[in-house]
Amino acid sequence: MSQITTKARIGLVGLGVMGANLSLNIAEKGFPIAVFNRTGSVTDEFIAESGDLREALVPTKTYEELVAALEAPRAVIIMVKAGGPVDAVIEALTPLLEEGDMIIDAGNADFHDTRRREAALREKGLNFIGMGVSGGEEGARHGPSIMVGGNPASYETIRDIIEAISAKHDGDPCAAHFGPDGAGHFVKTVHNGIEYADMQMIAEIYGLLRDGAHRAPEEIGALFERWDKGPLNSYLVEISGKVLQTSDPETGKPMVEVIVDKAGQKGTGRWTAIEALTLGQSPSTIEAAVAARSWSSEKETRLAGAEIFGTEPEHNLTLPKETDFEQALLVAKLVAYDQGFKLLKAASDHYDWGLDLARAAEVWREGCIIRSALLDDMAAAIRNGLPQDQLIFSADFIAHMKTGLPALRRVVSYATSAGLPVPALANALAYFDTMRQGRGTTDLIQAQRDFFGAHGFERMDGGEGQHGPWHG
Ligand code: 6PG
Repeated sequence: MSQITTKARIGLVGLGVMGANLSLNIAEKGFPIAVFNRTGSVTDEFIAESGDLREALVPTKTYEELVAALEAPRAVIIMVKAGGPVDAVIEALTPLLEEGDMIIDAGNADFHDTRRREAALREKGLNFIGMGVSGGEEGARHGPSIMVGGNPASYETIRDIIEAISAKHDGDPCAAHFGPDGAGHFVKTVHNGIEYADMQMIAEIYGLLRDGAHRAPEEIGALFERWDKGPLNSYLVEISGKVLQTSDPETGKPMVEVIVDKAGQKGTGRWTAIEALTLGQSPSTIEAAVAARSWSSEKETRLAGAEIFGTEPEHNLTLPKETDFEQALLVAKLVAYDQGFKLLKAASDHYDWGLDLARAAEVWREGCIIRSALLDDMAAAIRNGLPQDQLIFSADFIAHMKTGLPALRRVVSYATSAGLPVPALANALAYFDTMRQGRGTTDLIQAQRDFFGAHGFERMDGGEGQHGPWHG
């Protein structure tokens, strides 16, 4: 049994990679933290490897010890696998906590679970904070982007810790409280949805340069590295440049050539799409990215398809210029963010969260996976007010859109003619073209619905619930 001499400001359950790094970050910022892991040897190893930070760490071997090690009101961060394991930890901790204490779920939780847990714990006089943490292990250790939801008063009691451990943008903490119950986890989910779209679009451009322009991975990597110095400056373009210029130590081949083209997914991108559809939204770039990952996992089917249909012949296609690819990626990315922010707005209205969308953009400027130079401009544009809630209609981005759209059009046309799939880029373009089409084609959909189901339509010259003279 460990000897507890110091009362810790906060506790943490789950010393996996993320939990361990977050604990070291908290300890490093000068906050004594009590840690607990279900397998005690993991705690011992963690402490043994904690070096100078050892003094600020309180190892505990039972939930009772953990709770006893904490200052009141107690705050315990849970960093375990989403779903059942979170409920199991909550169940173990709840009887040991007192009114006013707080449990913080720092994993990638489904915000519906967060809402349910918050309501259940509130009944027992306990506070539950849903806290999205982005930035991978490096971020957790040295400064993640943090999206908080839950009772604002209880967040206030740990705000100093959360802001201290977060990434900073010109000194401004990339951490914020976004609203009650599931608001923080929802913002994190949409962050991940945008992450999926951004990654997919970069991968599509890589595919066109690889299979259309027949460029080697390292050449494409060097190009991404150059783009990272311009308007596309972002963590994802930066790491894509690095990844493409990395060789496999075993074979000497480019790393990407030894990696099977089947993408994994833990579910946050899918949740974004599902929640969007439930709210009557359709973030088509995110949906396309989720679909592309699912299709990618059907490797055997794709191999069979390649066998049956071969590759589409190219008919004197003109390859778009390098700058076209760069511009296309930029505007398609703006569309992905536009759709993400629209979804945040829709959820905020529906759940009455009062989400500060500009603050979300600000919190994403550093520390998280989607951090990029553009986010500062987006935050400013949102603060100025978005016409029709559309980021791409904002005065700050109209010029970008007007310059980049012909390039996106050339890139998508090229891809389509070459038979190279670009679902996210094509969906970005389709969304944009739809949003600038004053008169669409759903007049016919309405007529069809009325024809077969008497669903009624609205007339241009006034009057809802009208019917057509379809059946004589
Ligand atoms: C982050 C990441 C992180 C995790 C993703 C991976 O913000 O730090 O989004 O949360 O890497 O959940 O998700 P997939 O496994 O679904 O790609």
